[in-house]
Amino acid sequence: MNFNKVNTAILDKIKDAVGASNVFVDEESLANYAHDETEDLKYFPEVVVKPHDTGAVSALMKVCNAEGVPVTPRGGGTGLSGAALPVYGGVLLSMERFKKVIEIDTENLQATVEPGVITQEFMDAVGEFGLRYPVDPSSKGSCFIGGNVAHGSGGPRVVKYGTIREYILNLEVVLPDGQVIWTGANTLKYASGYNLTQLMIGSEGTLGVVTKIVTKLIPVIGHSVLMLASFAENEAACAAVSAVFRAGMTPSALEFMERKGVEWVIQYDGIQFDLKDNVNAFLMLEFDGDDMDTIFKDCEKANNVLEAHGCLEVLFADTAAQKEELWKMRRVMAESVKSNSVYKEEDTVVPRAALPKLISGIKEIGAKYGFDSVCYGHAGDGNLHVNIIKAGMSDEDWKHKLKFGITEIFELTAALGGTISGEHGIGLVQKDYMHLKYAEINLNIMRGIKQVFDPKGILNPGKIF
Ligand code: LAC
Ligand code: ZN
Repeated sequence: MNFNKVNTAILDKIKDAVGASNVFVDEESLANYAHDETEDLKYFPEVVVKPHDTGAVSALMKVCNAEGVPVTPRGGGTGLSGAALPVYGGVLLSMERFKKVIEIDTENLQATVEPGVITQEFMDAVGEFGLRYPVDPSSKGSCFIGGNVAHGSGGPRVVKYGTIREYILNLEVVLPDGQVIWTGANTLKYASGYNLTQLMIGSEGTLGVVTKIVTKLIPVIGHSVLMLASFAENEAACAAVSAVFRAGMTPSALEFMERKGVEWVIQYDGIQFDLKDNVNAFLMLEFDGDDMDTIFKDCEKANNVLEAHGCLEVLFADTAAQKEELWKMRRVMAESVKSNSVYKEEDTVVPRAALPKLISGIKEIGAKYGFDSVCYGHAGDGNLHVNIIKAGMSDEDWKHKLKFGITEIFELTAALGGTISGEHGIGLVQKDYMHLKYAEINLNIMRGIKQVFDPKGILNPGKIF
């Protein structure tokens, strides 16, 4: 792609558009925004811009569109697909100053929030009104809600409450040419033409820059119990997952963890946990509700299903401290894997009854190519995070052969009726694999949509396809 460099004249125009004090070209700033949480990739922007309001984003886009300068929007920088990396340089548009929870509408159970609000802080803000925003990715303490919109984010509670797609009602968006639109309506139903709100969700900052977000909220739920079930085999644990739902239960979380993940978390975070020798896999099940009796009945029913699937032991956590410790074990898993080994993270998702075939297939592919893998994830959604570990693979093979192993993993995922990312997105690192799941016609439809929104291709170029 052919873009213009940010020369002095263009830089002056950017400063005029957004205010000079919001424009950074010092080395430290450029380096701070050159990476996200995706492996060890680095791409430096030419300039970092931190506007405060929609007007400034619009003015910036007008300049960059006219000058042919690429713009890469960025949220909290916790992404795992490289979607916020400025691969063509240009402007890095950080949304970190969009920090306001604008309105919590307790009449309609809705909120209007800016994209730079940290997800956990938004949850806390609505919690003060007895309300709940349940979309809680593992990075909730540092990711931005705007980044969650851009990625169609999920997390452990999706299995009962849905992804962010189920909560976003309307978005204010600055288009690549600087025009500002609202995508939909603040309503719970929408049958008024193409749903631009849903199109924007998961578009990874390639169609527009989200500047305001209207979300749906639900009432706070009073109680929950967390169970940890241990298994001798991955496949048995994975087979129990779909059985829980078939038995009529909907847990508020159903997470899978492989032994190695738990071992590494214990090392990484000093978590106290008695890891028995015969245990190779865990399921974490949470049941929530307002009535403890109903919750306990669900736990009992789930216990029977788990036992029928060869579960070795079930631990119950019902105090806040016990639950927090178990959740911490699950939530720091990605970080602990990262600190332990050279790795590559995939985000496969299949219909949940196919999970046993997915995990055994991944292990077979690993044995063929010489890599190890640590798998964990939102099993209740059929979503398995596959952390490929370099193990015995030579540097040469890691560089040149790993991609064939990943190709086989994604071919298997597609053959099982799944897709290549459930919640982390495509961004930069998965785009070469899109054709394994989607026909050229699908990709051309996506390219066509991109062309309508962004004819000059300046907004987050080099991503998705
Ligand atoms: C998790 C992130 C990696 O589930 O999606 O921990
Ligand atoms: Zn996840």
